[in-house]
Amino acid sequence: MTDTTDAAAPAAALPATMTAWQQHRYGGPETVARETVPVPTPSAGEVLLRVAATSLNSGDVRLMRGEPLLVRAAFGLRRPKHPGRGMDVAGTVVGIGAGVTAFAVGDEVVGELPGGGLAPFVVAPAARLVRRPAEVTAATASTLPIAGGTAWRALELAKVAAGARILVIGASGGVGTFTLRLAAERGIEVWALTGARARELVTGLGAARVFDYAVVQPGAPELGAASFDAVIDIAGTARLRDLQRLVRPGGGVVLVSGHGGRVLGPVGRILRAIVLSRRSRRLIPLAATPDTGILTSLLGLAAKGRLAPVVERTWPLDEARDALAHVDAGHTVGKVVVLGG
Ligand SMILES: NC(=O)c1ccc[n+]([C@@H]2O[C@H](COP(=O)([O-])OP(=O)(O)OC[C@H]3O[C@@H](n4cnc5c(N)ncnc54)[C@H](OP(=O)(O)O)[C@@H]3O)[C@@H](O)[C@H]2O)c1
Repeated sequence: MTDTTDAAAPAAALPATMTAWQQHRYGGPETVARETVPVPTPSAGEVLLRVAATSLNSGDVRLMRGEPLLVRAAFGLRRPKHPGRGMDVAGTVVGIGAGVTAFAVGDEVVGELPGGGLAPFVVAPAARLVRRPAEVTAATASTLPIAGGTAWRALELAKVAAGARILVIGASGGVGTFTLRLAAERGIEVWALTGARARELVTGLGAARVFDYAVVQPGAPELGAASFDAVIDIAGTARLRDLQRLVRPGGGVVLVSGHGGRVLGPVGRILRAIVLSRRSRRLIPLAATPDTGILTSLLGLAAKGRLAPVVERTWPLDEARDALAHVDAGHTVGKVVVLGG
């Protein structure tokens, strides 16, 4: 006998198939191709979204390439478990899985999904979603979960308040530009290390002093020992001891990124950070996870006009592979958004 309370609610007037960007082996953007696939059905605890906008993050291209290889332990040893790329998605609820009571068909939502935003429709765990306020466009909302959420977490871990001075290393990408926006919103003074290309932009985001990372390294005298209440390192290339030297006693260095070997990636740097961390100058590795509370706060700021993403460029869904290639090249300034489903 079927328990009708557990049955998925039927989705109205949806096509049976769709053309979606899919990936069945790890590699560069050329491994992501358009395919005709069934429109997915939401399982228990999931909803079906009609995708309005997907923003891309460097994490999407790490997953695409399966690098560092450690990534494959969680996301599929031989091939990506989830064939759809694009984790930050804003869209409209068009189908409801069993047991979902928090959302209804027609709701506008946003969240960090396991993947799949580069498609007309995607299923999403309801627990990952937040309602999108009418004042915030889908494109803006899609930029917030990973990049905005990571910047929020970094400032939280840095334990800084109005009047503090921080150094942001790698200020020009998605996480970097949101870190600057949120720091300005909180009255925190920012010094920034960034590429020459983004100097004007970073100054416009409120940085008090901006240095070209090709000229001034974290160990350079221009930055001065013990000059900062905290350092937020998004570039992940500087020596940990050089970073520690920059903070005042009691300050912290938040390690958002850490480049390393092809196999273990940042793991070695994280272990070194644990060994070198001192109560007087903490080294704090950050591992951001989807957080609907932070996302709600970010949407609240955006709805009040107090937070706006820097969007470098938008692409239509038909050209999503070009957007992935752009992020894969590693020189994104702000955010990249793919529009439409
Ligand atoms: N720990 C976590 O939970 C977490 C969460 C999200 C992201 N992340 C990490 O944070 C980093 C940024 O992510 P994202 O999505 O914001 O990346 P993104 O948008 O692709 O960032 C690209 C930007 O980084 C700049 N950059 C690269 N190397 C640099 C260096 N040595 N010094 C200064 N700037 C540099 C580039 O500037 P140029 O073009 O001038 O080089 C470019 O503008 C990634 O490594 C990502 O893996 C970590």
